[in-house]
Order: sequence, then structure tokens, then C-alpha cells
Amino acid sequence: MAAQQAYSASEADNYSGYRSFEVGKFSFRRDEYFAHIEWPSGQHVMSIDVFLRALQRTVAWNFFYGTLNWDSVFGTLNHYGTVDVFAGRFNPGYQDGGVDYSENFDADPLMAGFKDILDDWTNAGYDPFAAPMETDKPFGRKNGDNRAAINRLRVTAKRMVGVPGDAAPRSDETGHPINRAFLDVDQSEPVIEAEAGFEDEVCGFNLFAYLSRSDVTWNPSVCSVVRDSLYCPTSEEFILPIEHGNDRVEWFIQLSDEISWDVKDRDTGAPRAMVVMRAGDVAAMPADIRHQGFSARRSMLLVWENANSELPGIIARGEAPVIPIEF
Ligand code: PHB
Ligand code: FE
Repeated sequence: MAAQQAYSASEADNYSGYRSFEVGKFSFRRDEYFAHIEWPSGQHVMSIDVFLRALQRTVAWNFFYGTLNWDSVFGTLNHYGTVDVFAGRFNPGYQDGGVDYSENFDADPLMAGFKDILDDWTNAGYDPFAAPMETDKPFGRKNGDNRAAINRLRVTAKRMVGVPGDAAPRSDETGHPINRAFLDVDQSEPVIEAEAGFEDEVCGFNLFAYLSRSDVTWNPSVCSVVRDSLYCPTSEEFILPIEHGNDRVEWFIQLSDEISWDVKDRDTGAPRAMVVMRAGDVAAMPADIRHQGFSARRSMLLVWENANSELPGIIARGEAPVIPIEF
């Protein structure tokens, strides 16, 4: 199907104050509590907090790897250049009923439309990146905006946090106070004694201190890069706003506290496993699943990604296994 370009927005609604949006053959409308999504063969409603948290991740991660299920019905599938927006595509009930729908878009204009929805539908005081206990409610009629929150840039180090000229460590001065859950985390930085001339090459930083100062949840940031090997640590609290459908293997290393992962079949959503990860646990998420994390207390997680762009094809053709290791 040819990639579609444009989106359009209505005037602000007289009562709610929110604009409605047409994105290809999808339409999006919000009221005081809900997001309403329609497509040619069906319609769907989501609680606005769930919708905004998922939309925020989709925007910040630039569609990420594979499938971003915003819930069991609606989401995006990244083809890296173009993106499918779908409803019911990975939900057997919708497929059996013939009401599933998928439309392919060029990534950039779709992103522009998504950013506009996020901007218009996020009120002052509500931060879709924040844990629910750390932000106001998103409900009600339109009331200002929160551009400082929704336009935060995801950290993407070129080599590593702390390397001269690269992403900077966090501190009170950079506007990153220690989170209430991590006040006991040691803040000392490593002492590095590099040979003269190697000051830019021999570097280190305190990752626990860095994560203790994260002001967002469920937002893996690229903190070190070795070719396609990306270390993407993140701090987590409440529920991962996305059921992520993998197109490659991802490794998780639980750095503190505990996360429960609800793991399902990627295409059908059938249950596969509930994985409880405690500090020190390591897991590989297979390439044929979707997963959603639940973190009752703020926790630290290292997500290890392989950014090799050939991987989805290699795995889809069966040339590489969907699991990285067999015991
Ligand atoms: C994931 O999909 O693997 C993922 C996404 C965001 C997180 C953690 C894990 O914060
Ligand atoms: Fe994932």
C-alpha cells in the first residue's frame, strides 16, 4: 500500500477545548476522560491517561523497534522509514470479526501528526512520562499545555554518558534531583587517572547515581554504544505504557528492586509467561513475544538492544532463532 502523507486537525471543540485529528483514515478525538479512535471498519475508546502515556513513548522513541501496542487493539509497527498504524491487527477477535485495519505512513509526517495530538491533549501539570504519584491528573477540559515535559529529548549518547562532548551526567545543576525512592543511592563518581593524551578515551560514570536522578519512567536512554550494542538503562514505576512486540531479542538486567513482566505471544496476545525479575536477574526477551512490565516501586532496569537493522529480516526469514541461547 502506498504510504500516506498528511494529517489534519479541526478547530478546538466548543465544549472540551480539544482539537480532533484525521491521520490517514484514522480519526482521533478526546473528551474529558477518553480518547476515541475510529477507522473505516471500527472504533475504539481508551482512557486518556493510558492513551497519552503510550503516545508519549511512541513519540519519544521515534516508533522504537517492532510493534508498540498501546493496548490490546491499537498501535504502531515500525518498518524504519514507514510505519503501520493498526487497529485489531494483533487481536484474533478483531481479525475474526473482520474489523481489523492497518494503514502505512511515511514516518516523518506521521510523527508530526502524533506530536500535534500529544501537544494539544496534554494539559498543564500533567506529565505523561511521570509515575502517576508524581504528576497531576490528565482529565478534564483543555487547560494549558506542558511542552517542557512532552518535548524532553531522550538521551542518546554517541559513545557513553560522561565522555567529553557526549551526553552529560545528571546532577542537581542539570535539573535532575535524586528521586524520592533513591535517596540512599551512593552519588560518588569514579576516580579516573588517565595517561596524558587519553583523557577523552578513558572515562567512567556512576550509572546508579545517573538512574537515581531520572525524571521520567519507562524511557530507555542510550547511555553507551559499541557499534550496534546499545545499553539503554531506564527507571521504572507503575506500568510500561506499551505492550512491546519485539522484532529482535532484547536483554534485560534488573539493576534494583523488582519488575513483573507479562509476556504474551506477539501476534495473538496469548499468554506465554509471567517473569518476576529481582535485582541481579538477567532475562532475554524472545523475538516473537510482546511484553509489558509492572514495577510497584521505582526500579532500575538495563535494556540491552541490538540496533543491527538487518536483524528483523534475518529473524523473520527464519535465518536466526527467536531466542539467543538454549540451555
Ligand atoms: C521494552 O520494550 O523492552 C522496554 C521499553 C521501555 C522500558 C523498558 C523496556 O522502559
Ligand atoms: Fe521490549
